[in-house]
Amino acid sequence: MSNSIIKFKHVAKKYDKKEIISDLNFEIKKGEFITVLGSSGSGKTTTLKMINGLEKPTSGEIIVNGENLKNANLVNLRRHIGYVVQSIGLFPHMTIAQNIAVTPKLLGWSQDKIDQTVSKLLEVVGLEDARFKDAYPSQLSGGQQQRVGVARALSTNPPIMLFDEPFSALDAITRQNLQQELKTLHKNLNDKTFFFVTHDINEALFLGDRVMVMNNGMIEQFDTPENLIDHPATQYVSDLLGTVQQNKNLWEHFND
Ligand SMILES: Nc1ncnc2c1ncn2[C@@H]1O[C@H](COP(=O)(O)OP(=O)(O)OP(=O)(O)O)[C@@H](O)[C@H]1O
Ligand SMILES: [Mg+2]
Repeated sequence: MSNSIIKFKHVAKKYDKKEIISDLNFEIKKGEFITVLGSSGSGKTTTLKMINGLEKPTSGEIIVNGENLKNANLVNLRRHIGYVVQSIGLFPHMTIAQNIAVTPKLLGWSQDKIDQTVSKLLEVVGLEDARFKDAYPSQLSGGQQQRVGVARALSTNPPIMLFDEPFSALDAITRQNLQQELKTLHKNLNDKTFFFVTHDINEALFLGDRVMVMNNGMIEQFDTPENLIDHPATQYVSDLLGTVQQNKNLWEHFND
């Protein structure tokens, strides 16, 4: 794969002496929207955190954007990787604008450039500048706060965005709206690579160009939603998607 942006080669990870991941191999192309499904404890979050160096592999190689993470400056790496988690982690005493501008400020951007970026990002995530810029996180709904989380992760225009169950605390309608918006956002942002962990099978199938199905620290199948449904590689995948198969027509029209 010539335009590979994330590559795992024989990656293993132990916590204490327990092997969580034994031999993980995969490659992601620049611009792909990857979703990750799997049982609780299957190693999804660990895999995601190894991409931005929050966790280190016990053995194996991880190449991100052409750089082997063994030799990478991790602070610098993380500035080039957006990270959105379920517990959004906005600073309560800072306004929305200040929350979005945390990293740009650390990087010493001019106030003009910061103001312009904040305005643009609020627009990108569908929040009105005038209403939200000077508000505090506690004045926003969960869905609105999650949008700020996405805006903040986009502030330095990173080529890679990692999402760890960002929508799991939201109600079904807000969640569906945000899914649609995230899909559009990905389409409009040129060539950004998204790595999105979720427990929601429909969400994974709807958003992913390819879906990684993990179980016991291994990849059961890494394939397009269509192939997962039509040709499940293992019993685990087949069982996981069993309920969805019946609803195939339902989610297919979302992809139109
Ligand atoms: N810091 C840690 N120390 C020890 N064990 C850990 C640590 N982090 C994760 N683990 C273990 O590694 C395994 C994989 O955890 P991980 O968080 O990657 O799973 P997950 O697939 O994200 O699960 P979930 O869907 O519940 O979020 C689990 O058995 C977990 O208990
Ligand atoms: Mg997890």
